[in-house]
Amino acid sequence: MATIRDVAKKAGVSIATVSRVINNKGTIRKETKETVQQAIKDLAYTPNMVARGLSNRRSYAVALIVPTITNPFFPEMARAVEDIARENGYNVLLCNTDDRRDRLIDYIDSLSSQYVDGIIINSHNIMREDLQKLKSLGIPLVMMDRVLQDHDFTSITVKNREGGRMATEHLVEVGCKRIAHISGLEDTLNATHRMWGYRDVVSNMPWFDPSWIGMAEFSVQSGYQVAKELFSRHPEIDGIFCSNDLIAIGALKAAYEWGKKIPNELAIVGFDGIDMSRLTVPSITTIQQPIYHMGQLAMKELLKQIEERNNEPKKFELNVDFVLRESTMR
Ligand code: RIB
Repeated sequence: MATIRDVAKKAGVSIATVSRVINNKGTIRKETKETVQQAIKDLAYTPNMVARGLSNRRSYAVALIVPTITNPFFPEMARAVEDIARENGYNVLLCNTDDRRDRLIDYIDSLSSQYVDGIIINSHNIMREDLQKLKSLGIPLVMMDRVLQDHDFTSITVKNREGGRMATEHLVEVGCKRIAHISGLEDTLNATHRMWGYRDVVSNMPWFDPSWIGMAEFSVQSGYQVAKELFSRHPEIDGIFCSNDLIAIGALKAAYEWGKKIPNELAIVGFDGIDMSRLTVPSITTIQQPIYHMGQLAMKELLKQIEERNNEPKKFELNVDFVLRESTMR
């Protein structure tokens, strides 16, 4: 097995230089860095992570807290976090809270006492006191997607309200006259903003009242259930904006059972742009979030905090895109 000495010899530099490249310490010329990296690759050299961690007080492990791994949105995002982490020599610890506050607390407690270099948090259950605790321990932190309203941490979200408006305006444009909304989890900021986007478009329409909004969880089962309730409450419904694609899939199933033809009798728009939304029959028109990019950005921002001690909080609010598919092609 190759050693650090072999790498130094092959690259024609000192062991100290190789170590500086591996640990990203000090100033090293770009060409030297590339030569050392090439030698590492050619010799398939793996640095001893324990020794590396001891020398610069790092574990080279970061935690990613997600609300549920059963929703494809989160694995798609986790994949991006992992890709950037691996490129930079870090491992990712996946912490799935199953939308439960008690699990989140357990993870926060155990991550506080273990040696992780940073945490990416995606959870609507998070509270200010949890963030303060992590901050006081000096653990770098990035929040994403499901975030608190006011905070002073780096966060990555999308233009949820604008997305809600785009979805609802599209339903109006394709001729829908009675448009319902199925919202996501009640105390989740992104779901609330999507609902505001819907309300921006419909609240002045003469038929509108809050009974056109159904509260669901971000899941197929709950989308199915709430869509059926809306159908019996408002049989004249001809369009639904769903707060995520899983809810939209549930609404598709409910519409099928109810005998409503999509898109002509009922048009449906989702939100997220998970891969699955292309594959349903009919495929689902959706508001695409830049899921992979969000994961990449979260990990890159976390690395800046870990490696450059750059703790200046930044608020990213990324654009969403409208994706036209069969569920609204009238
Ligand atoms: O699909 C799950 C929802 O939860 C997404 O819309 C995403 O924004 C997340 O918070």
